[in-house]
Amino acid sequence: MTSSTPAISLEDVTVRYGSQTAVANVSLAVEQGEFVTLLGPSGSGKTTLLNLVAGAFAPYKGTVRINGKDVSHAPTHTRNIGMVFQSYTLFPSKTVAKNVAFPLEIRREPKEKKERRVLDALRTVRLLDHADKLPAQISGGQAQRVALARAIVFDPDILLFDEPLGALDRALRKDLQREIRRIQQSIDVPALYVTHDQEEAMTMSDRIVLFRDGGIVQQGTPREVYEQPASVWAATFLGAANVWPITRANPASGGEVTIETDGFTVTLPASAGDPVVGATSVVSRPEDCVLTSAEVDGVRCHPGSVTAIEYLGTGQNVTVRLVGGPQLVALTSGRGQRYEVGEPVFCHWRPGAHSIVPAD
Ligand SMILES: Nc1ncnc2c1ncn2[C@@H]1O[C@H](COP(=O)(O)OP(=O)(O)OP(=O)(O)O)[C@@H](O)[C@H]1O
Ligand SMILES: [Mg+2]
Repeated sequence: MTSSTPAISLEDVTVRYGSQTAVANVSLAVEQGEFVTLLGPSGSGKTTLLNLVAGAFAPYKGTVRINGKDVSHAPTHTRNIGMVFQSYTLFPSKTVAKNVAFPLEIRREPKEKKERRVLDALRTVRLLDHADKLPAQISGGQAQRVALARAIVFDPDILLFDEPLGALDRALRKDLQREIRRIQQSIDVPALYVTHDQEEAMTMSDRIVLFRDGGIVQQGTPREVYEQPASVWAATFLGAANVWPITRANPASGGEVTIETDGFTVTLPASAGDPVVGATSVVSRPEDCVLTSAEVDGVRCHPGSVTAIEYLGTGQNVTVRLVGGPQLVALTSGRGQRYEVGEPVFCHWRPGAHSIVPAD
């Protein structure tokens, strides 16, 4: 193994349950030290892919490698993987320390080494003070830290997480997201993390793999997938988006393309993409639409009127119907300009706001 050997490498893997294909022809690599998140809707095959890496079953087709070694048919206990699931799966009659020690018991590690490692792991997850408690005497967030300590105590080659924070409330989830990332970086173990929460994926990951119907739709850094979505589906799964189906398109000229969406005409930089009527749509993010009460010099402004306002605290969603055109949502600052329904406004967009992407 060299430092450039991926920690996990899936090569054209397919997984079937009987006649149903749950994962089809997926190739994916997780590099050393990297934190990769599988993000996708319920039933898209995320857990199946994770279980494949864990060794719960062999692929129907393709190869699974860990640190370069073909483990496609190797049993779970030979793979040296730390796993954390949504359910804590702690032994209720064992103390926190004994739960964390369990993987070392199985590996028959000597007592001294075992005690040292358990203390190290508990210190890492900040639970030293709770070592002698039983699982029933700690909170859900603490239980998940115990599960994390148990996953790292034997110095695993990789970490796998399946929606570990799904059962926790929002504030605790945010805390543990930071905690998991801090720990993963400090012990420098590569991680494959499954979630269907886009915000969690965005804030934690080096790279997001967008998963749908058993296949990869797009992968990239959180910024790449958010700002350059591969399709309308990718754009809307990752956040709010204004979507305009293209009903007419003029070929690019002078660095610009002009498209029509339901009779509304808008001119975009040619770099937005290639418009194909019926097959592509224009997507933009609400925060990239700027509202003003008067036209701005030197910028193409589109007149419209406010049809709805949603106050979010951190901002407000202002829905605008453009004159002769579609509705769109603009996200403005919470303490910024206040709007009223019926008020006339002008819209323009930040540079690069629009992308023309496949409609599906
Ligand atoms: N043991 C199994 N036997 C048969 N079909 C299964 C089995 N496990 C999962 N499936 C099917 O495979 C598909 C993918 O399931 P999987 O659990 O991997 O999805 P997921 O993305 O993890 O969903 P969720 O977000 O709900 O956990 C689904 O259609 C599911 O019904
Ligand atoms: Mg799942």
